[in-house]
Amino acid sequence: MTKRVVIIEGEDASPEAVRPTVDLVDRLQVEIEWVRPPVGETALARGLAAFPDEARAAIDESDATLFGATSGKSVPALLYLRWGRDTYANVRPSRFFPGCQSPLREPEGLDLVIVRENIEDLYIAAEGDVADLAPLGLTSRFSGKPVVEFQPGKYAIKVITEKGTERVARHAFELAQRRKKQGHPGRLTCTSKYNVLSQTDGLFRDVTERVAADYPDVAFDTLIVDDFAHKLVKHSKAFDVIVIPNLYGDILSDAAAGLVGGLGVAPSGCYGADYAYFESVHGTAPDIAGKNIINPTATILSAAMMLDYLGFSEAAGTLERAVAETYAEGSVKTPDQGGTASTIEFCAAVASRL
Ligand code: IPM
Ligand code: MN
Repeated sequence: MTKRVVIIEGEDASPEAVRPTVDLVDRLQVEIEWVRPPVGETALARGLAAFPDEARAAIDESDATLFGATSGKSVPALLYLRWGRDTYANVRPSRFFPGCQSPLREPEGLDLVIVRENIEDLYIAAEGDVADLAPLGLTSRFSGKPVVEFQPGKYAIKVITEKGTERVARHAFELAQRRKKQGHPGRLTCTSKYNVLSQTDGLFRDVTERVAADYPDVAFDTLIVDDFAHKLVKHSKAFDVIVIPNLYGDILSDAAAGLVGGLGVAPSGCYGADYAYFESVHGTAPDIAGKNIINPTATILSAAMMLDYLGFSEAAGTLERAVAETYAEGSVKTPDQGGTASTIEFCAAVASRL
């Protein structure tokens, strides 16, 4: 059955990565109907709102969205894709492709996936004046001082819920199970700052630990997040799947991307109960906009994740293999990986291997 996919190209250099990626997917002869509603710059240029109703409707009537990256103008669409569509599991694989520029001495075999909770935590994004907290009569557990004494100052709210944690934990366990069938260790690491934030991050750990009982075939362990950051760099290959609250996941998935060659090669997929969208982890790279040198790998691999989600797993595998072979062969690489190829040249090299 034909799947409908919304394309949101994003800003700056982002469209230069999205357009040739769509061409690559078209070569795979999968039944996808692309929909390109006006969003961000294109919408504003036509005198429309940055995220017009018709774009929202197009998303609602689609099976998935392929999103580029946004510097601002497409942010309302991104907010809708995350919070509007409740895409709670942000899956960020870091897999080393031989030929990429890793800072590690022996990156071969590094293949981990960070599953970042995508809705809650400090991304509730409710901040304000500390003085406004006075009616709550809160006390700092560490200093014993009333919280209102920390002023003038600002607060931010961190919320972790049982339901929010359980669903992302299940997503992560199921991913670990699927990967185990493909030869990965079948291990899930839950990490948060549960030693200090015993209520919020403690709940994240406790709920995940409880869910672990339903997945006895997946080895489970917990790590405090600073310890995880250290081990991520020092013993990167020891990890398989990691489940992590939103903000730590944002930060450490960028770090994990650095281990395998940087943001140019880091894809992601954000999955909800009835929708998913796919985007590179990187931003819009305004410094190289218009130069046709942005590394499209992150977008191509995001598209491969999308193909898998839509049920075109063979095409997804073909696309990923073509990328892997292009790096292994090594003569066509974009500047971020130490090469001189343009975006289009890289995509042509990938296309020749499909
Ligand atoms: C990301 C980005 C976003 C985030 C921003 C653009 C809201 O950094 O997708 O990782 O913090 O989640
Ligand atoms: Mn980020």
